[in-house]
Amino acid sequence: MKKLITNGTIVTAADMYEADLLIEDGKIAAIGKNLGTGAEEVIDARGAYVFPGGIDPHTHLDMPFGGTVTSDDFETGTIAAAYGGTTSIIDFCLTNKGEPLKNAIQTWHEKSKSKAVIDYGFHLMISEVNEQVLEEIPLIIEEEGITSFKVFMAYKNVFQADDETLFRTLLTAKEHGALVMVHAENGDVIDFLVNKALKEGNTAPIYHALTRPPEVEGEATGRAAQLTGIAGSQLYVVHVSCAEAVEKIDEARKKGYQVWGETCPQYLVLDQSYLEKPNFEGAKYVWSPPLREKWNQEVLWNALKNGQLQTLGSDQCSFNFKGQKELGVGDFTKIPNGGPIIEDRFSLFFSEGVKKGRISINQFVDIVSTRIAKLFGLFPRKGTIAVGSDADIVIFDPNKERVISAETHHMNVDYSAFEGMKVTGEPISVLSRGEFVIREKEFVGKPGSGQYLKRARFGSQEKPAEKVR
Ligand code: URP
Ligand code: ZN
Ligand code: ZN
Ligand code: ZN
Repeated sequence: MKKLITNGTIVTAADMYEADLLIEDGKIAAIGKNLGTGAEEVIDARGAYVFPGGIDPHTHLDMPFGGTVTSDDFETGTIAAAYGGTTSIIDFCLTNKGEPLKNAIQTWHEKSKSKAVIDYGFHLMISEVNEQVLEEIPLIIEEEGITSFKVFMAYKNVFQADDETLFRTLLTAKEHGALVMVHAENGDVIDFLVNKALKEGNTAPIYHALTRPPEVEGEATGRAAQLTGIAGSQLYVVHVSCAEAVEKIDEARKKGYQVWGETCPQYLVLDQSYLEKPNFEGAKYVWSPPLREKWNQEVLWNALKNGQLQTLGSDQCSFNFKGQKELGVGDFTKIPNGGPIIEDRFSLFFSEGVKKGRISINQFVDIVSTRIAKLFGLFPRKGTIAVGSDADIVIFDPNKERVISAETHHMNVDYSAFEGMKVTGEPISVLSRGEFVIREKEFVGKPGSGQYLKRARFGSQEKPAEKVR
């Protein structure tokens, strides 16, 4: 089955040009003018941008956390992602100490395989390093194509790993070709500050932010970067929220260390004052790291613009206000951390970034798709529009205006952190491997049609895209 997308403006991380695009067997078969007939279906993209599908490198679907489970699973979460212009996600697979890593991966396959409507891969959490783990890691890289490992430096007594574990994970990753990801906050210091706040009777949502000051993020980021330098390994810092962390990443990169940083839409447009909303509404804005004082937003935008930060993840981790966020009434430590963003990451970033002149349109594509594909072993299969790449395509109307609202979003959650925000630009149709998932703004995909992504090792680009024509 051949499809032809005509009259659109193709935009990649490098180029922008008018051309038609021929799709055959799920791949991009040709790009050019007058590609001839023979297509069973012609899609008119006049006035629209034709982007490579967004890649979200940071999601938590169907994940047990904070005494509950995230409200979006692999079905609702990937449907919402597709509506928002995202065609691949990489989700965090949690592991349990003392259990084979393989078991955890099996659990994640079961959560996802009959539900996902777009392609998906997994990062694997490492919470301890011992003989068994060291034996399993090379097999997991080889057999599962999981080439990124996550270490938490925070959430004491839950996910937190110690520095030896982080260091040994860095060494193992270097040896076998994987990227180490860190949640960089000093969990021990946070634990102390949290207990002190509770003892003093400070239980409201704002204390979530006040007990996790930016310095604890900066300190952990700097520590992880230094350990990466000693190990000669490679590091990706997730959800960078503040100037202190940007500085540490920048410092490390200037020394030649292989360190990259991701930020998230919430840190670019929301700020700490949201945690002070009355009637416990502040709980909707509880993330770790927390939202920061507003001036940090400009630091993050500049860091994206000048390359100090390289990617945008959603950190999708949705909990309903009713019954889930409310677990923390009277004790902010019981508010499940995280929020619903998977659907809005792409268009919010386009609107706030490209439309407001903060980044170029090519930088936009790089930050939401291409660079992520390169870092996580998916390029050039994913992350670009090129002959031989998967036909993961977003047909995007750059001028359509809309207002974000829980009334109209497709995530399985009862609020939007961006309620009432006006955005310009909207995905009209979205294709995954040449098949429509969203067509004229309606979901037409099928649960289970998303494929599991085995990823290439860090630094070893995938084979050149197959020639298909
Ligand atoms: O608050 C957050 N970020 N929740 C998701 C889990 C994590 O730390 O990424
Ligand atoms: Zn985290
Ligand atoms: Zn996360
Ligand atoms: Zn709808």
